[in-house]
Amino acid sequence: METIKKKTRARDTVARWNSCGFDVGLVPTMGALHQGHLSLVEASLSECDKTVVSIFLNPTQFGRDEDLDQYPRQTETDLRILKQMGVDMAFTPAKEEMYQENFCTWVVQEYLTEKLCGAFRPDHFRGVCTVVAKLFNTIQAKCAFFGRKDFQQAAVIKRMIRDLDIPITVRVMPTVREKDGLALSSRNRYLSQKERNSTACLHKALIAAREGFQSGVKDIDILLGLMRERLNKGGGIIKPQYTEIVAPDTLNRPETPSSSDIAAIAAFAGDTRLIDNMPLGGKNRDIYLNQAGNERV
Ligand code: PAJ
Repeated sequence: METIKKKTRARDTVARWNSCGFDVGLVPTMGALHQGHLSLVEASLSECDKTVVSIFLNPTQFGRDEDLDQYPRQTETDLRILKQMGVDMAFTPAKEEMYQENFCTWVVQEYLTEKLCGAFRPDHFRGVCTVVAKLFNTIQAKCAFFGRKDFQQAAVIKRMIRDLDIPITVRVMPTVREKDGLALSSRNRYLSQKERNSTACLHKALIAAREGFQSGVKDIDILLGLMRERLNKGGGIIKPQYTEIVAPDTLNRPETPSSSDIAAIAAFAGDTRLIDNMPLGGKNRDIYLNQAGNERV
């Protein structure tokens, strides 16, 4: 595996692969890799000839009072894992490489970014869109892999590539969960044991909405009520920021729910902000880890 820090070298390497006719896959990450990230890497390894994983803790997507400084950093471990998996390139630029002095050009998406998490994290998606567009320009991949865990992010990025004619295909992969249903996240390691014990209620709330819908409840307020009721069973430790049901393409709350609509939650456990979501209908395609945490059930 090549570990590359410079954009020009990364671009040249990918250009060489493209000229040989290889399909290149890109998995953008902020590091502190877990099985959720690794499921995207596995998908790229199996679907593409060459896989690039970027590790870049992107400062511009964090608000001033958010957790950039505490965010876990473990680049050496991450690189070891990626090498073992057979990744072809790790792209690990420094902050100065991605944001040159006097940087002042941003990718700002309207509408989808104002809803759900965007309503509470004002410049978050501006930072995400800008860095992802820059990564797409540097690593000219055929396909990029994102997780459904951050479904608003995936929707925003899909809209960005459509609106800006970026020649890349986005693949959105299932959420990987702990055995009790907590979606894997680099932020889970902030949780105290007491907080961790309460976090399964996010998953339970999403399941409550699904089960309600699938047993015939077609009133959004009742479904939202079922979710909130389940979250309230988090022993007072879980503080919901939003509970929503939205259409996947518009992120608007539908008048009458349908099976492709998504139940979505953001909640705090102490200072840790967790997000999760699940479609109301269809098969649950999420991946649940076994107790050892590194094998799938
Ligand atoms: P990060 O939080 O590191 O996540 C990288 C990718 O892993 C994202 O596509 C995310 O949706 C996916 N992911 C995280 N947890 C997952 C889980 N439990 N199951 C499946 N996939 C999961 O998302 C970002 O970084 C950044 O915003 C980024 C896109 C890299 C731009 O900076």
